[in-house]
Formats: sequence, C-alpha cells, structure tokens
Amino acid sequence: MATGKRVVSSRLRAGHREGESIRTLISHAQVMRRLKELAAQIRRDFPKEPLHLIGVLKGSVFFLSDLARELGGEVSFDFMAVSSYGKGTDSTGEVKLIKDLDVSIEGKTVIVVEDILDTGLTLKYLLRIFREKKPKHLRIVVLLDKHERRIADVHADYTGFTIPNEFVVGYGLDYDERYRNLPDVCVLHLGTRTKAKSA
Ligand code: IMP
Ligand code: MG
Repeated sequence: MATGKRVVSSRLRAGHREGESIRTLISHAQVMRRLKELAAQIRRDFPKEPLHLIGVLKGSVFFLSDLARELGGEVSFDFMAVSSYGKGTDSTGEVKLIKDLDVSIEGKTVIVVEDILDTGLTLKYLLRIFREKKPKHLRIVVLLDKHERRIADVHADYTGFTIPNEFVVGYGLDYDERYRNLPDVCVLHLGTRTKAKSA
C-alpha cells in the first residue's frame, strides 16, 4: 500500500537493549541458499520416503518451516520442547522434557531439526528417547554447529554451518527470549553482562 510515508521494516529494528550489540555472522540470504542444499541432500538420501520432521522448540521454528517448504514430497512435522537445567552458557547436562511428541514415530523416517548443536547434551538426551520409539530411520539436521563446545558424542547427519565459539542470536535463536525474529544469524556482544542460555 502506497501511503507516501517511508516504512521502516521491523526487520531493521534489532530490538537490542543497552549494553548489547549484534553483528551479522550469516545473512538470511546465505541461510536460505544453504537450506536449499540441505533439503536436496536429505531428499537424495530419502527420495521417496515420507519425512517426519521433529523440531526442537523454540529455536528451530523458522529453520523447520523453511526447510519443510524446500523438501518437497510428503512431509509431516511435530515438535518437542526441552529445557536445560542450570544457568549461564555451560549446561549441567540435565535436560527436562517440557512437551512430548503428539504422534507416534514408530516406523517413520524421522529428521530431528535443531537450531544449534553446542555441547550436544540436549540432542544426546533426545536421541535416546527417540531411539526407544523405534523409528525406521533417525537423522539429525542442525543449522549451526559449534564444534569446539562439544561434550557429548553427538554428530549431525546434515549441518548448515560450522561456527566459532560465540553466542549467536537470530533466525529463531534467542537471548532471554529476544532476537529470535532477526532474519540473519548474528553474534551477540553483551559488554560486561553475563550470558544466559535458553532453548
Ligand atoms: P546443547 O545441549 O549445549 O547442545 O545446546 C542446546 C541448546 O542451547 C540449543 O538448542 C540452543 O537452544 C541453546 N544454545 C546453544 N548455543 C546457543 C547460542 O549461541 N545462542 C542461542 N542459543 C544457544
Ligand atoms: Mg534449541
């Protein structure tokens, strides 16, 4: 609609607070390009199979919805919510289940969709639960991999980008529930304040 006024896109307003600053690490365009490649790779491995995506809330919502649209073929999805005990950037390794799956995954080709693989403790916990439910195939796709931080022996089958050990926000990833709506993946600088980790 042409109103004559200059419209400032909400995309340009990062919403950062005093002492916080962000710098783009991976642009939205780069994310979308890489997603097409990941979707093609997954479809090459499972050309005719119905794919059941399981998104880990909340960080994976944009990634899952964009990936689902690139995959083509028969796709269904479900969500799981977990939270990691302990504060700060170092997880205790204890994971609490907040929301379980809605439908059975037995006999299905399941792709777990995660925003970021950090220590790997969350995915290790989830994979144990999922394996017990006897899917036909169980694969993991992560948008980001902070390889240096790994504690648990977990590997993603499909990885968007390997990134350095920095705290990132945007494209679903948050800091204190903020910044998820940034289209780009950005590094967050907090000045002297300490970082908090949330799922
Ligand atoms: P992990 O269990 O240490 O592998 O990390 C699990 C969760 O921690 C991820 O799914 C994210 O929700 C969160 N997380 C880890 N690193 C970051 C980050 O750099 N920014 C935002 N969230 C993060
Ligand atoms: Mg997460």
